[in-house]
Amino acid sequence: MDSINTLLLGTDEESIGKAADIIKNGGLVAFPTETVYGLGGDAFSPDSSRRIYAAKGRPSDNPLIVHIAEVSSVYEIASEVPDKARDLMEAFWPGPLTVILPKKPIVPDETTGGLSTVAIRMPSHPASLELIRKSGVYIAAPSANLSGRPSPTTAEHVVEDMNGRIDAIIDGGPVGIGIESTIVDMTSDVPTILRPGYITKSMLEKIIGEVKIDKAIIEPDSGIRPKAPGMKYTHYAPKGKLTIVEDESRPGEVTGAVIEKINELISNDEGKVTAVLTTREHEADYKCDHIILLGNEKKAETVASRLYAALRECDTIGADTIYSESLSHDELGGAVMNRLLKAAGHRVIYI
Ligand code: TXA
Ligand code: MG
Repeated sequence: MDSINTLLLGTDEESIGKAADIIKNGGLVAFPTETVYGLGGDAFSPDSSRRIYAAKGRPSDNPLIVHIAEVSSVYEIASEVPDKARDLMEAFWPGPLTVILPKKPIVPDETTGGLSTVAIRMPSHPASLELIRKSGVYIAAPSANLSGRPSPTTAEHVVEDMNGRIDAIIDGGPVGIGIESTIVDMTSDVPTILRPGYITKSMLEKIIGEVKIDKAIIEPDSGIRPKAPGMKYTHYAPKGKLTIVEDESRPGEVTGAVIEKINELISNDEGKVTAVLTTREHEADYKCDHIILLGNEKKAETVASRLYAALRECDTIGADTIYSESLSHDELGGAVMNRLLKAAGHRVIYI
């Protein structure tokens, strides 16, 4: 990085005050949440939303999430709040859950990508709550990455993508969860997960009964259009070719056959810079140029928190070919695999 042209701030009161003033005056500030870093602007200002799309290089039909600091704010943004939505908000807010509700006319089309619904979330990170409260507005915030890149989980990732494109970055250190919030559409007959995340289907069902998963997520090759516009875009893909290897007889487990296959593929990659995305348990098993650690095989939390940094690392080391173990498919593991599969363009070798 040559020089930093964006104001770097801490999480102290004075810094958050400065950041809040920037947002109040129509500027853009990246800030930490418990999931990933967000790129925030005044959610009710069409101009701020336009600037967010420009900074990210994001298509303007891809709506933004409105971040709030009090549960009661939902009633100023949504025209209707079904009982089940209220129950979920009570159970999981503040936290990594986004609900889709019908929007009030006050929410600009620029923020919702022209949709009649709006995505709302109350984050739990103290710096985000402080920023929203101090700015006196609701904050529209997509992940603070350039469109197509992995979401940022550290302030350094934000600097990589956004230096000189936004007014300020609040550095709150590495985030806790590492993948984006679970999105649930509360406008359909049966509440539907549009993007899997830390809050899993069974956690939601404990509170409100039956919950569906958007078909486009379960069958990504079906050609069905995802209900969350952002889910249709290629995401997170490193520059090198990423391939996932899975043992069909024991999906989500790193078996001897998986390790053997990956080593065979590496041995055919002569002259290329090779990397393997693996867990601590298997870091000694591969004969590649670079081992990139994802966390612990049996602890999806550790993999979630490392995944995006690991994908960025593939580019930093200039990997030409990258192989990844296929990891646990259920609950949080499923949300992680959803991102990993996208990053691999759904390239999986089954053995
Ligand atoms: O954890 C998160 O949710 C992070 C942090 C910063 O809060 N934010 C985030 O925002 O991931 P973004 O913009 O990267 O992803 C928002 C997703 C997109 O896939 C978008 O299409 C979908 O939410 N979305 C937003 N409004 C929607 C709506 N009204 N209906 C359906 N999908 C919507
Ligand atoms: Mg994003």
